[in-house]
Amino acid sequence: MNNHQIALVKETFGLVATIPAETVGDLFYNRLFEITPEIRPMFERTSLPEQSRKLISMLAYVVGKLDNLSSIIDEVAKLAQRHVKYGVEPRHYQPVGEALLWTLEKGLGDHWNEDVKEAWTRCYSTLSGAMIQACEEISVA
Ligand code: HEM
Repeated sequence: MNNHQIALVKETFGLVATIPAETVGDLFYNRLFEITPEIRPMFERTSLPEQSRKLISMLAYVVGKLDNLSSIIDEVAKLAQRHVKYGVEPRHYQPVGEALLWTLEKGLGDHWNEDVKEAWTRCYSTLSGAMIQACEEISVA
């Protein structure tokens, strides 16, 4: 990701953060469960408002790490390890990314454009790529 893309992700996250978490969560989880129903049981331990707050904190986590992703490889590996315990498999990262992009597009309205899409795509694929790699290393270890 270049600096412009990092700035775009931070700026648009700031806009999404002004929308009530529950609204963003509704968009995201409805879309995710529609495209990948098998993922639903993984999230059934918590209520929707609680999950929605987690979604925003997941985004905040991503955005907060953007400036220096390479320095947090250990942290990402631990996050990936916890995800394996939640039942997450590598193939689940693609639909989650798709639902995330779709949610951002709906939430940002007029602020959504090709540059913003490209920036968020890079952001998610960088982080999910690192998580998938880390859990593949765990499973062969
Ligand atoms: C770049 C990708 C992702 C990031 C940065 C991310 C980040 C997080 C964070 C920070 C948490 C809070 C708990 C913790 O720190 O362990 C969490 C929880 C969770 N994530 Fe992710 N996540 C990602 C992708 C995914 C994917 C692909 C799935 C697949 C369905 C998933 C499913 C879950 C579940 C089930 C929980 C626990 C919810 C609960 O508390 O019941 N995540 N995620």
